[in-house]
Amino acid sequence: MVKIHTVEIIPPLLNSSCLWASDFEQLRDLYDSPHTGAVTTRTATLHGFKENSANAVVFSADQYTTLNSYGYSPRPLAQYLEWVETLLSTPSPRRKPIILSITASNPVDLGQMLIHIQSLRRRLREVIPPDEIFPDSSTLLAIELNTSCPNIPSAPPPSYHLPSLRPHLAILADVAREDPSLTIGLKLPPYPDVTRVTEVVNCLSEYTFEAEGPRNPFAFVTCTNTLGGSLLFTDQVDSNYISTGDDVPAFAVPPAIGGLGGIQMHPIALGTVLAFSRALAAHGDPAVRKIKVIGVGGVTDRAAARRMRAAGASAVACATLLGREGIRAFEILTE
Ligand SMILES: Cc1cc2nc3c(=O)[nH]c(=O)nc-3n(C[C@H](O)[C@H](O)[C@H](O)COP(=O)(O)O)c2cc1C
Repeated sequence: MVKIHTVEIIPPLLNSSCLWASDFEQLRDLYDSPHTGAVTTRTATLHGFKENSANAVVFSADQYTTLNSYGYSPRPLAQYLEWVETLLSTPSPRRKPIILSITASNPVDLGQMLIHIQSLRRRLREVIPPDEIFPDSSTLLAIELNTSCPNIPSAPPPSYHLPSLRPHLAILADVAREDPSLTIGLKLPPYPDVTRVTEVVNCLSEYTFEAEGPRNPFAFVTCTNTLGGSLLFTDQVDSNYISTGDDVPAFAVPPAIGGLGGIQMHPIALGTVLAFSRALAAHGDPAVRKIKVIGVGGVTDRAAARRMRAAGASAVACATLLGREGIRAFEILTE
């Protein structure tokens, strides 16, 4: 069990935001699994992201590595809010929190999204009777700001450029100040240059405020997103994914470059998790020391999940394994 601000994740195992958490059926299967302690949605934007034929995913020959060139979900935020309300308000033997992954290209859109999310959270408080684990039903819905998608043309991940990130953090911090029950996290990319980790942690500390003691608006960081700038050639791809015919493309995904997930990026994900765990634990601000890490990246078996916890992750999540094995992924990871 892990408690991240107002959110309890029992067991501390969940999916990370991805293609296989896009539609209602996928989210319901994740919610109904006895092996998940929470569910994360695919990243939603205010109006939905325009997908095209360049957006794709392949599994490499080792079967547990992915390269993907997807952006965000084509479904808008309103659709996810509707699905989340249905899932959370349907009687269930075991309630669990849903982490709504969101992003916006500008702070105004982000502000709009937060108004809609907060309105749903207020409604949850009215329609879902409190229980022992969730005395405030609005805490069943948390937020993860995706700051790290490597696949958006001409929009570098803001978490690699803090001046672009700060306006979004400021909007989230305002909402956290107004509503202490809201749990907010950030989805971060891998940091091959670990000195950048301290910069990010110092940046988060700028938002600590006083609320009967110091409190930081950000309760968790999810490390890591895929490793951008990666290339696989078609002959490196699982043969089930190679199209037959005369004009087989040389590159595994249409734009050539994409984000690497799964076992081939596990070491850098582990390194980033360890670097964040250490930087958070060593910080002078007690509110920053409370920020938890959700470990993601190459968690494809129990030993990898154990390594994530040993590197400092309070909870562990996966995407590639879910894509490969379906909902069985969480049984595979359960000790
Ligand atoms: C096909 C695909 C789609 C993804 N979409 C998202 C997304 O919408 N939002 C997000 O934060 N991360 C997204 N990710 C990244 C995953 O959440 C995860 O951080 C990354 O794949 C590393 O974990 P893994 O090794 O378990 O795959 C996606 C990954 C894949 C493979």
